[in-house]
Amino acid sequence: MQAGGDAALEAQDLVFMYDALVALRGVSIRVGAGEAVGIVGVNGAGKTTLVKVLAGFLRASSGSHTFLGREMSGVSARRHMRDGLVLVPEGRQIATRLTVEDNLTIGASCYGWRRPEAAAIAFAYEVFPELRDHRARSAGALSGGQQQMVAIARALVARPKMLLLDEPSQGLAPFLQERLAGSFHSLQEAGITLLVVEQNLSFARQCTDRVYSIVNGLVGFDGGWEQFVAEGGLIGSH
Ligand SMILES: Nc1ncnc2c1ncn2[C@@H]1O[C@H](COP(=O)(O)OP(=O)(O)OP(=O)(O)O)[C@@H](O)[C@H]1O
Ligand SMILES: [Mg+2]
Repeated sequence: MQAGGDAALEAQDLVFMYDALVALRGVSIRVGAGEAVGIVGVNGAGKTTLVKVLAGFLRASSGSHTFLGREMSGVSARRHMRDGLVLVPEGRQIATRLTVEDNLTIGASCYGWRRPEAAAIAFAYEVFPELRDHRARSAGALSGGQQQMVAIARALVARPKMLLLDEPSQGLAPFLQERLAGSFHSLQEAGITLLVVEQNLSFARQCTDRVYSIVNGLVGFDGGWEQFVAEGGLIGSH
């Protein structure tokens, strides 16, 4: 799907400062409903800061963002989740001592749901069938790839309309990356809009339709993957 349709998420001139350090210098992006869009950039470029602002965990010093046409600036993270904009954070952050199923049910309460709907858990297991087989195992006993699935499944229990995924392929072997990219296609087919932050360009290219690069707190590139590659991937330039 192209960006010309209805916008799911629109950010305008976002600026964010950690005290004196300016992490975002005026970032504007737009993600159409049903699209899968990549965000790439080197370490420290501002990618995590951007998705934390977009998910309501950090408040921009200036600029604004809307989700499904609704103004979200200054709105709490919990309200973002309830409205269907859910962040899968960098580094998984699952409860390794709890079972897979408890991660999903207790995770849902973190996302603001008192009790998860059975249908939402069933949907998460449909996307990641092997988690159903491991539902009673402690999450810490699973492989890295399976733990990433738990992190995403937990977000799915919140019934997102859009997922913001921060470096989901981190630490995964290539064959697991391929499986994860396949799951992302299923999510997109289920109508979930995706914004995927990645340093792994080949993975990002596999699972998204187009790409923004963030360079030193600004958008350095906005376009298709072919053009991005043809221009030498502006990922490291300033
Ligand atoms: N909590 C914080 N306090 C102060 N500075 C921070 C904090 N978090 C990030 N920064 C700084 O803000 C800038 C952007 O960081 P950010 O984590 O958004 O980058 P990133 O693109 O996600 O990097 P990475 O690829 O390493 O995850 C960096 O210069 C970083 O050092
Ligand atoms: Mg980051």
